[in-house]
Amino acid sequence: MEMKINTTKLLWLLMFSDIVLFSYEKSLRERAIELMQDARLIDGHNDLVLRLRIFYQNRLSTVNLRELNKTHTNLVKLQAGFVGAQFWSVYVLCSAQNKDAVRLTLEQIDVVKRMCNSYEELELVTTSQGISDSRRIACLIGIEGGHSIDSSLATLRMYYDLGVRYMSLTHSCNTPWSESSSKGMHNFYPNVNGLTAFGQEVVKEMNRLGMLVDLSHTSDMTAKAALSISKAPVIFSHSSAFSVCNHSRNVPDDILQKLKKNKGIIMVTFNADVLACGRKVVNVSTLADHFDHIKKIAGSESIGIGGDYDGVERSFPEGLEDVSKYPSLIEELLRRGWNETELKGVLRENFLRVFREVENVRNLSRPMDVGETETPQEVQNSCRLDLRNHQPQKVRSFGFSSVAQPLSLTFVTISHLILYYEL
Ligand SMILES: *[C@@H]1O[C@H](CO)[C@@H](O)[C@H](O)[C@H]1NC(C)=O
Ligand SMILES: *[C@@H]1O[C@H](CO)[C@@H](O)[C@H](O)[C@H]1NC(C)=O
Ligand SMILES: *[C@@H]1O[C@H](CO)[C@@H](O)[C@H](O)[C@H]1NC(C)=O
Ligand SMILES: *[C@@H]1O[C@H](CO)[C@@H](O)[C@H](O)[C@H]1NC(C)=O
Ligand SMILES: *[C@@H]1O[C@H](CO)[C@@H](O)[C@H](O)[C@H]1NC(C)=O
Ligand SMILES: [Zn+2]
Repeated sequence: MEMKINTTKLLWLLMFSDIVLFSYEKSLRERAIELMQDARLIDGHNDLVLRLRIFYQNRLSTVNLRELNKTHTNLVKLQAGFVGAQFWSVYVLCSAQNKDAVRLTLEQIDVVKRMCNSYEELELVTTSQGISDSRRIACLIGIEGGHSIDSSLATLRMYYDLGVRYMSLTHSCNTPWSESSSKGMHNFYPNVNGLTAFGQEVVKEMNRLGMLVDLSHTSDMTAKAALSISKAPVIFSHSSAFSVCNHSRNVPDDILQKLKKNKGIIMVTFNADVLACGRKVVNVSTLADHFDHIKKIAGSESIGIGGDYDGVERSFPEGLEDVSKYPSLIEELLRRGWNETELKGVLRENFLRVFREVENVRNLSRPMDVGETETPQEVQNSCRLDLRNHQPQKVRSFGFSSVAQPLSLTFVTISHLILYYEL
C-alpha cells in the first residue's frame, strides 16, 4: 500500500517536472539569438556601397542609412541581424577594367570611410584585434576583382595602406593575370588560365602585406593555384557548394578539401542564384543544405557566412530577405544538430582565426621582399603612359645667356613648365 502511494507520487512528480522542463526549455529561436548576442556575426560580403553609387552617386548627405529601405541593408536591420562586423565590398564593374577602375575603387573606399566615420553605430577597423575590441558594427573593406589594381603591385600596396583587407582575385572578368569562373560574360584576356607568373606575385604580395586572398568568383584553376602558393589561409568571401548546386560560382569538393588543409574558410553565400539550380522554392532549408554538405567535406571550422546582400539584381531565399534575417539560418542549423561551438565558429571565430594567421604571416615576412615585378606585357590599356625610356626633351634655347638673373629664373620656371607638359 505504502509502496503504491509512493509510486503514484513519483509518477506525479515526474509528470510535473516534465512540464516544468518543457516550459523552461528554450525555443530554437531563443537559443539562436543568445548565441548571436554572444558571437556577433562577421559577414564576408555586402554590396550596399555599390547601391550608394547607383542610387545616390555616393552623396551620403542625401540618404539616411538607418532607415534606408530601397536596399537589403540598413543600420537598424544590421543590428537586428546581430552583425558585429561587415566587409563592405568596394566593387567596381568589370567594364571599368583598363579604364578608370582605380579611380572608381578609390571613390568606393572613400565612401565606406565617410559612411563608417559618420554613423555612431559603425566603426572602421583594419585588424583582427580591432574586430574583437569593437562594440559597434566593425567596418572592413574588401576589393572584389583584380581589375581594381590595374596590374600594379604598388597600387595593391596603397590599397592596403588605405585599409583594404581582402581582394578577390577576379570578378566576372579575367584580368591579365587571373582567370574568372564566369565564361563568356566579358572578353577580356580570354587566353589566361589560372594564375600567370604575375598573378602568383600578386598572391605573394598579398601574403606579405597581410591582405586576405579571396577566391570567390575565380576559376577552379585560379583557386587551386592560389591555394598551393599562399603561405596564409585564404577565404571564399561569398560562395557555396558546387555539389549541392553546380553553379560555376560554387566550390567543388576537391577544392573544399584543399581549403581545409589550408585552414581557410568558405563564407557561404545566400544569393539565391547560386543556391537554387532550378529548384522552385529556395528557402532557409536550401541554404542549410549547403552548410551541411560543406561541413561533411571540410568540417565546420572551414565555414563562415558571406551573405552578398545588395549584390545587384540578386534574389534571396524565402525567410532571408534582408540583413536582419541571419538568426533564421542559425535557428535552422541548431534544428539540424549543429552545436554551439560549431556555430560560434561559423558566425565569428573561424574568420578571426584566419585573419590572425594572415596577420601572423605578414608579421613574419620581410619588408625587403616587396614585390617589384613590372606590369605584365599582356596589359592592353591605352590609358597607360609608359615612362620606361623617357628622356626629358631638350628645351629649345632662346638665347637668354646675356639676360639678367630674374629673367633666367623665369626661364627655368618656363622650361620646367614645358618639361612638365611634355611628361
Ligand atoms: C521606406 O521608408 C520610407 C521613409 O522612411 C517610408 O516612407 C516608406 O513607406 C518605406 N517603404 C516601405 C516599403 O517600407
Ligand atoms: C549542372 O548540371 C546540369 C544537369 O546535370 C548540366 O546540364 C550542367 O551542364 C551542369 N553545369 C555545370 C556548370 O557543370
Ligand atoms: C523549404 O521548402 C521546402 C520545399 O517546399 C519545404 O519542404 C521546407 O519545409 C521549407 N523549409 C522551410 C524552413 O521553410
Ligand atoms: C561540437 O561538435 C564538435 C564537432 O564538430 C565536437 O568536437 C565538440 O565536442 C562539440 N561540442 C559540444 C559542446 O558538444
Ligand atoms: C603582428 O604585429 C603587430 C604589430 O607588431 C601586432 O600588434 C600583432 O599583434 C601581431 N599579430 C599577430 C597575429 O602576430
Ligand atoms: Zn560577387
